[in-house]
This record gives sequence, structure tokens and C-alpha cells, in this order.
Amino acid sequence: MSAVSKKETTAFMRLLNYSRPYWWRIVVASLGSLGVGGMDGAMAYLVEPVLRKIFSGKETGIFVLLPMGIVLLFAVRGLCRYTNDFFIRTAGQLAVQDVRNDLYRKNMGLGLGYFTRNETGALMSRVLADVNTMQEGVANVITGLFRDGISAVSLLCVIFYRDWRLALISFIVIPLTVIPAQKIGKRIKSLARHGQEKMGDLAGILQETYSGIKVIKAFGLEAREVERFRQCNQRYYFFIRKNIKYEGLSTPIMEFITSFGIAAVIYVGGSNVMQGTRSASEFFSFITAMVLVFNPIKRLLASYNNVQRSLGAAERVFEVMDEEPEIVDAPDARDLGRATGAVEFRDVSFKYDDDYVLQGVNLSASRGEVIALVGPSGGGKTTLVSLITRFYDPTGGAVLMDGLDIRKRTMKSLLEQIALVDQETILFNDTIANNIRYGKTEATDEEVAAAATAAFANDFIADLPEGYETNIGDRGVRLSGGQRQRLCIARAILKDAPILILDEATSALDTESEQMVQQALNNLMKNRTTFVIAHRLSTITHADRIVVLEKGVVAEMGSHEKLLDNDGLYSRLHGMQFKA
Ligand SMILES: Nc1ncnc2c1ncn2[C@@H]1O[C@H](COP(=O)(O)OP(=O)(O)OP(=O)(O)O)[C@@H](O)[C@H]1O
Ligand SMILES: [Mg+2]
Repeated sequence: MSAVSKKETTAFMRLLNYSRPYWWRIVVASLGSLGVGGMDGAMAYLVEPVLRKIFSGKETGIFVLLPMGIVLLFAVRGLCRYTNDFFIRTAGQLAVQDVRNDLYRKNMGLGLGYFTRNETGALMSRVLADVNTMQEGVANVITGLFRDGISAVSLLCVIFYRDWRLALISFIVIPLTVIPAQKIGKRIKSLARHGQEKMGDLAGILQETYSGIKVIKAFGLEAREVERFRQCNQRYYFFIRKNIKYEGLSTPIMEFITSFGIAAVIYVGGSNVMQGTRSASEFFSFITAMVLVFNPIKRLLASYNNVQRSLGAAERVFEVMDEEPEIVDAPDARDLGRATGAVEFRDVSFKYDDDYVLQGVNLSASRGEVIALVGPSGGGKTTLVSLITRFYDPTGGAVLMDGLDIRKRTMKSLLEQIALVDQETILFNDTIANNIRYGKTEATDEEVAAAATAAFANDFIADLPEGYETNIGDRGVRLSGGQRQRLCIARAILKDAPILILDEATSALDTESEQMVQQALNNLMKNRTTFVIAHRLSTITHADRIVVLEKGVVAEMGSHEKLLDNDGLYSRLHGMQFKA
């Protein structure tokens, strides 16, 4: 169909590009469809000689040959159809697998900002639902174009061969179907896009409620969530209903328009037969071909709608693929070896959106120093350390490592210098050992055990049913907050990086294990530059320098004693905690 926008053409070409590696499957499938199409034409063509012979009443042999021929014809046709089906659909699925892998790889390469801007549910629905919808379109198009196209062509040959004038009469109406088909296709595409968005909303609710089930239960809000899901589900239905309405309209409209062609043919052809200017067997062959040709043509038109629907999904998928990662290696970035660990913030400012979260931060940490970041919640502590890992780049100023702007390092060699223990204790559905090994994938069992011992995690791991090989995703294996935190610390210990970032790393530990872990961390901090964020000031009194961040600016900086003497924010916070 014409009037296809450039965006659509590129989306479509990119889609087809994914099927290119599977070209031989497509070739085999098209051979199959060639068989099916040819068989259809042959059947319509054979109606004429068969009827002629039957009417002549002379050749009785035909009554044996004909049934056998029919069975054979259908057997061959079935085989061709199966071949076509199998190869085209596996080609489609293989292409989809590639799209999905590419999409996921692309996703993983995007910066942290992208993930905070987009809902998890929407991201998931792109990888799962959109890619599927997209595939249905591709498979349908290829099947449609080959199988139905070839059937239609071979049947059209019979039609024109039998009587081209009658053929022209019957097809004069075909152009009339183009306009409604196009209108409906456009609607379906935009509905598909919105439908997928609604699907994303649904996935979002699921993701949120399954992971937050404890809070929902604790507050007794199950009914509220059920209602929220019901409403979202209903909005999805409204979109699908519109879609059904338009898709359902398409066939009846086409059939109604083409019925005028059939009527004209019967009128003209029928009267010819009665006047004796046309043989009845020829006319039957013509009608057979014409009735047969409407099915593939109808399906070809319907596949236009499928293409539209899948283009809607494809555009969503390619939008993600075209997303430019905000944080990329500079062209002159280099793989620098192990850093000594000196870190400097030089006049750093940063904003997520409109408001500055950090302003004019100057701070330098020499190798092996422990820098504690304290201050009110929301002051910018987590943001500041996330500039070291380049989760974000500063809006102004620069972060330097060993005197060199970290943007001059490759991301890979930058991240090798840093071990991070976060506020969130993220563990994966894997064994304890492999979760610790996240710090250093090639670590031996001994190294893993040593790291766990240093993090005071060895004892509780030994109590688990399968020790280090216990899968923590398994039912029944539940770890306490403190245990999870110790695993994360073990992970960081194993990584053995020159720079260590601890963001509330000991907040979930009781006083006793905190003391033990603190000891482990103290050992770990030796010869490493450490940034430690803590709300409990008792844990950071020995830091080389304490930085008080308030509303994104460094309010105070100095040793514990000096800050107490200052009588500023730090000494106020300290006083409050001491009293408590
Ligand atoms: N991804 C984000 N997008 C937009 N704003 C953010 C984002 N993350 C944090 N902020 C905002 O930046 C400010 C600083 O947040 P940050 O997490 O750095 O504070 P914090 O000092 O670590 O607080 P806490 O002690 O509670 O952990 C806050 O006002 C917060 O609302
Ligand atoms: Mg924080």
C-alpha cells in the first residue's frame, strides 16, 4: 500500500533485516508456498477439462483417476503447507530472539538515569510483549506475501487465461477497497501502540505489587491494589475492544465491496452461458478460481493490518534501540591500570532535573584516606558518590582520579577501581558463592570463603543447608537484612579495588555484628581510599575527614574533634545522637 511514512519504512526495513540471517529458511518456506500456490491454480484450472469430460460422458476412466488425483493433490499441498509453516515461523522466532537479545543488551548499556525515568513494568513489556507483537507482524507478512501472494498470482493467471474481459469486470472493484483498508490500518497501528502502553502499565502494577507485597499486606491494602489492577485491566480492554472493532470491520467491508465484482461476473458470464457463447465448464473453472482467489487476497489485505500493528510495536522497540546512552567512553578514553586511589571533586555541581542537588563541591581524598559523608537526608551524599562510578556525569566541574578526569578513562577500567556497598542490598537468584563472586567472577572457592570470613558471613553461611552452594532464590532460604548486607560486603572485599564506597553499608546490622563488620571494614579500608556514608555518627568518628553535606553544599569539613569544636551542624547532629 502506498502512503507509508519514512519512519514506517525504516522500521519495516530494520525488521526485515533481522530475518536476513535466516534467509535459507525463508527460501525453503517460499518453495513450500510456491507448491501451495501452484496447487491452487492447478485445481482451478483442472475444473474445466474434468467437467468437459464428465459432461461428454465418454471417458469413464475419469471416475477412478479423479478421486485419486484429488487425494494426491491435497497430500502434496499439505506437505508444502507444512514445510512453509514450519520454516517461516521458526525463522520469525529466531529473528525475534535476536531482537530481544539486542534490546536487552542495549538496555543494559543505558545509563542509570534511563532506568529511573522509565517504569520497570514498561521496560519489561517492551522486551516481552512488544517484541512478540512485532514478530507476529513479520511472520505474517512473509507468510502472507509468499503463500497468499503466490496462490493469488497463480489463480489470477487461470482467471485471465480463461477470460480476461470477465476478469477485468470482476476486479474493477478492487481499487475501491484500498482506501478503507488504509484508513483502518492506520487506526489499528495507533491503537496497537497505545494498547502496548496499557500493557506496560499492567506489567508495572504487577512488578510493583509482587515486590512490595509485604507492605501491601501490612497495611491491609489488598483490596485497593486489586481495584487499581482491575481499572488498569479494563483500560487495556477498552483499547483491545477498539482494535477488535476495527479489525472486525475490515473483512466485511472488503467482502461487501468485492461482492459487486462477483455479482457482475455471474450476471455477464451466466447470460453468456445461457446464450451459448461460452462453455459451462470454462465458466465453472473461472468461478472456482475466482472464489479461491478471494481468500488469499483477503488475507493479504488483513496482513496489512498485521503489519500496521507490528509497526506500532516495532517503533516502540526501535525507540529503545535508538536511545543514546548518556554515559559513554570518550573517543580518547584509555584503559588505565590500577589507580592509586586519589579522588578529587573539582568545583562539582549536579542536577537531576531543574534544581541543583550539588553545588560547588570541592573535596579531595588522597590515597588511603577515609572520607565520611554525613548530613541530613536528601543532602546529596548518595548523589555525590554516584558521580565517582559515573552513574551520572557532573553538570559542572569534574571528578578526577589520580589527577585525571574520570571521563578520560574507559568505563570498564574506571569501574574496576571501585567497590560499592549500597543502601540497597541486591542479591541475585543464584548461589551464595556466585553472589559473592559478583565482585570478581574468576575468584576461587578459597578466595570466596576468605572474603565471606572477613565479612563475618562465614558462620551463617555454614548453617545454611548447602553452605556456599545454597541458592538464595530458592523457597525457604530467607536471609535477614544484616545477613544480606554482610554478603554485599563480602562481595566488595573480594573485589579488592583501590577505592571503596560504603553507602549505609552497616545500617542493617545489630550492634554486635556491626562491631565485627566494622572491624572487617577497617581492615578492608587499609591502603584504600574510602568514602563512607553513615547516619550513625559513632561509626565514623575515626575518619580522616568528615564532610557535612547540607542541601548540596559542603557545610563543614574536618576531623571529628575539629567539627565538634566548630559547634556547627555536625556538633548539633552529634549532640542529638549522643542524647538518644
Ligand atoms: N534519580 C533521581 N532523580 C531525581 N532526583 C533525585 C534522584 N535521586 C535523588 N534525587 C534528589 O536528589 C537529592 C539528593 O538525594 P541523595 O539521594 O543524594 O541524598 P542523600 O544525602 O543520600 O540522602 P539519604 O541520607 O536519605 O540517603 C534529593 O533531594 C533527592 O530527592
Ligand atoms: Mg543516600
